[in-house]
Amino acid sequence: MNVLGIETSCDETGVALYGSVQGLLAHQVHSQIEVHAGFGGVVPELASRDHISKTLPLTEAVLKEAGLNRRELDGVAYTAGPGLAGALMAGAAIARSLAWSLGIPAVAVHHMEGHLLAPLLEREAPAFPFTALLVSGGHTQLVAVEGVGRYRLLGESLDDAAGEAFDKTAKLLGLPYPGGPELARLATQGDPHRFHFPRPMIDRPGLDFSFSGLKTFALNCLAAFSEEERTPQLKADIARAFEEAVADTLAIKCRRALQETGSRTLVLAGGVSANQRLRHRIDREMEKLGGRAWYARPEFCTDNGAMIAYAGYLRLMAGEQTAPGFTVRPRWPMEELGAAGV
Ligand code: KG4
Ligand code: ZN
Repeated sequence: MNVLGIETSCDETGVALYGSVQGLLAHQVHSQIEVHAGFGGVVPELASRDHISKTLPLTEAVLKEAGLNRRELDGVAYTAGPGLAGALMAGAAIARSLAWSLGIPAVAVHHMEGHLLAPLLEREAPAFPFTALLVSGGHTQLVAVEGVGRYRLLGESLDDAAGEAFDKTAKLLGLPYPGGPELARLATQGDPHRFHFPRPMIDRPGLDFSFSGLKTFALNCLAAFSEEERTPQLKADIARAFEEAVADTLAIKCRRALQETGSRTLVLAGGVSANQRLRHRIDREMEKLGGRAWYARPEFCTDNGAMIAYAGYLRLMAGEQTAPGFTVRPRWPMEELGAAGV
């Protein structure tokens, strides 16, 4: 079975092909950084338009890369939520039209399920069950994972997602969009001992997070200095302390989650899981616990079509398909998903 995957939930158009025999056959991502950079963030209307113009050319490109023609496709998977309504509609409309014209099934994929399963695309992959930390621009969630679609939410952010905190803090440090990777780059130059940020909610029981206070803390650090004193070094020091606090907080909560589930297998997914300092901090924690953390390669941590093709492939293989229609769900709790094929 060859499945085309289409991801258009935010500011990246991702298209990929996944096949039963060889696994991932081809994948391409078009980033909209240039479209949104001048605005300092994602402009939903522009995102939708860009997805419309890029999805079909990328589809042609992955088919060519895989040496397949459209007639050799057996299914189409597309992100139906959560995400920006117009951006989701663009991908859904193209995916459904393609499937309809080819007479093949289509399946609506949950974006966060795509992220969650992305580490399973790697040659060496974890087995179910495991505990997952999903850290993206819109979500920070700890999830007990029994199998595809069998998810139990253990805890989540009560305000900003970890990626959102990175982006907002980057913005107030004057870094360009997209802020997370820029802040991480700047932090490598920073002194980890100059500032000490709080580790939010670690002294409270439970597995929820709160990251919105960290950007305020960063703002207060910056405000204590005059305009002339706000040197690149000062900003790097703040960035470093911020990053340490996020990594530390996430690692502490992961340890707590593993103690609760009894699992020693942790899967990290979503854009923030590309962060090197977080990976090191988590690896240290797992060493102490006698377990192991699994990650996707960095390009599959952030938004991509491969994770959608793969999640869709698993669901199509289980006999699932989504009835024709263009319904998307900009808000869509992952626990509402059923086990694959059920
Ligand atoms: O998963 P993703 O690509 O999109 C969403 O589903 O939201 O995650 C994007 C988020 C952004 O907030 C971005 O700043 C953050 O992931 N991010 C990073 C890094 N790479 C991406 N944050 C910290 N360090 C990174 N290296
Ligand atoms: Zn994402």
